Amino acid sequence: MPRFDVTIAGELNLDIIFYGLPEELPPEHELLTDRMMLTLGSSSAIVAHNLAALGTRVGFQSRIGDDSLGQIALQRLRESGVDVSRVLQVPGPVTTALTVILQHQDWRNILTYSGTMVDLTLDDLDLEFLSDSRHFHLSSFYLQKGLRPQVPELFRKLKQAGLTLSLDTNDDPDDRWDEELFESLRYVDIFLPNAREAKQITGTDDLRVAATKLAEVVPTVIIKMGAEGAMAQRGKECLQSPALKVNFVDPVGAGDSFDAGFLHQFVRGGDLATCLAFGNRAAAFSTTRAGGTEAFRDREYREEFLALSLPKELATSGRDPRIQSRN
Ligand SMILES: Nc1ncnc2c1ncn2[C@@H]1O[C@H](COP(=O)(O)OP(=O)(O)OP(=O)(O)O)[C@@H](O)[C@H]1O
Ligand SMILES: [Mg+2]
Repeated sequence: MPRFDVTIAGELNLDIIFYGLPEELPPEHELLTDRMMLTLGSSSAIVAHNLAALGTRVGFQSRIGDDSLGQIALQRLRESGVDVSRVLQVPGPVTTALTVILQHQDWRNILTYSGTMVDLTLDDLDLEFLSDSRHFHLSSFYLQKGLRPQVPELFRKLKQAGLTLSLDTNDDPDDRWDEELFESLRYVDIFLPNAREAKQITGTDDLRVAATKLAEVVPTVIIKMGAEGAMAQRGKECLQSPALKVNFVDPVGAGDSFDAGFLHQFVRGGDLATCLAFGNRAAAFSTTRAGGTEAFRDREYREEFLALSLPKELATSGRDPRIQSRN
């Protein structure tokens, strides 16, 4: 039996989130914010953290700087139960990445200092460690500029070792959406973009067309649609799953929490409908507290919301009476 259910290689950094800022940010003024949160950020680390909080065995590799913000991020990840023994802490002028999020009423600015995030390459990765797993997940394809050209090689090796693979590109900050991604997609079993990303990658405005095109390359395509929930396209089969109605705080890390919920069920052999519903549940849960991991860190709250103690069919069908379904 492999040591891990899921291994992940990717970015590890903190998020600073400011709430309550004015919509317009005039220059040269001291602008006051009434609330802030310093929390674990970065798509890869949020997926790893939340998977481990759900009880999945996770091994994580990353490259961070030898600095205090990197230490805090690492400690947060360790606390969730993720095996962080292969995280490299590299001294030098380049420090750990940091993201500042200005959360406005209905939109946000996301500012990222990429730091060591772009320095991670295949040479840093312990393939024996990553292969000792049933599944491998990669997030932030476009942000990981050092690793990006080597992703097809990494995927090929992991596939040869018998793992299933999932990928969530997240946004392309350069807005280029190069065709190069398709070299990696050929190895992927589960692709998890959001609706905008799916359209950009396939060069269409029609989400149905985007899903169909992607499903010609990837066996299971999952498209996250914000407050509309998520859809799955597997060959010609298409499934929809509504979002849950919750007390919403912010959407930070909702997509990553979706990935964690989906993969948590996937590695347990859950069928597509179960994986999709649990992805939505984990994502909705994440939106009820600031940032991407604060809800998941609270064990009592997590177990109550996700109803892990309920029989499986109740825990995953959206029939939990404490949670109202959108439809
Ligand atoms: N307002 C909301 N209420 C309930 N659930 C939501 C809401 N917004 C998002 N979600 C859940 O979060 C999931 C992911 O949202 P979204 O489509 O924004 O992904 P994303 O853009 O990849 O997120 P991220 O910014 O974390 O990368 C949705 O599929 C849904 O399950
Ligand atoms: Mg996303």
